[in-house]
Amino acid sequence: MASTFTGPQVYQDNFNPQIYLDTYYGAGSGVFIKDGYLDFILRKLHKAFTSGGVKGDLMIDIGPGPAIYQELSACEAFKEITAADFTDANREYLEKWRRNEPGLFDWAPAVKYVCDLEGRRYVKRGKIAEKEDKLRKTLKRVVPCDVTKSNPLHPLVLPKADCVLTVGCLECACKDEAAYGNVIKNLSSLLKVGGHLIIGSILGSTIFRCGNKQFSLINLSEQFLRKVITDNGFVIEDLEVLPREFDKPMFDICNHTSGIFILAKKVKDV
Ligand SMILES: C[S@@+](CC[C@H](N)C(=O)[O-])C[C@H]1O[C@@H](n2cnc3c(N)ncnc32)[C@H](O)[C@@H]1O
Repeated sequence: MASTFTGPQVYQDNFNPQIYLDTYYGAGSGVFIKDGYLDFILRKLHKAFTSGGVKGDLMIDIGPGPAIYQELSACEAFKEITAADFTDANREYLEKWRRNEPGLFDWAPAVKYVCDLEGRRYVKRGKIAEKEDKLRKTLKRVVPCDVTKSNPLHPLVLPKADCVLTVGCLECACKDEAAYGNVIKNLSSLLKVGGHLIIGSILGSTIFRCGNKQFSLINLSEQFLRKVITDNGFVIEDLEVLPREFDKPMFDICNHTSGIFILAKKVKDV
């Protein structure tokens, strides 16, 4: 399925946070619930932030959209997290979540899953709320971002981070492989040497839908990702692919053939 690149302004104008979360993470029927991608990413992140030894002062989460699941393990390993997304609506949604406003997407199943991975001995009824409070305290700021800029957080300049995490964003933000390589350089500029880049992504896709809007995706392969990451001064410490079974109604919403998780250590500036 061919697609024309939908740049960041298309997200600003057309990306609806609530419809996105319901479509992809909705209990039972969500695309990433049904194909196992959410559990896969949560397991891999838990491992990275525990036995994988990824920890430190600052983690920057790039392109979270309106989602927080990807920070649930990180909030135990970092003193602070900055979330950075392109659209006003996504940042407003995250700010509402930080304020614990009613009527937002319910992350309880994902929070419970991570608490179970962590073997938390919280009093059962308070477990979810306690974990969410921990993340609310650690998620210090939500800021604008454009990954195609040499400083993606311009005009903000942060101290170099110990970790840059990006799940489900770069395949949306890049027109082609050359653009992807530039974006990896831009994200690397936010990281200390010795810090970690974590990418969660999908392979083999060209489009995804959110309500009646369609967005383009760059068709990524494992081979390309290995090369672009290592060519830009990183050593890959963990990489796993999660194949996806064909399911036509789900593929009509998003046509990826697998999910991928990559943990890479920055060994030099390129
Ligand atoms: C599929 S959505 C959100 C994915 C979310 N992280 C998740 O795991 O479900 C892709 C996100 O990429 C963001 N995005 C698109 N282009 C961008 C750019 N040039 N710079 C930063 N973020 C961008 C959009 O605003 C959107 O929030």
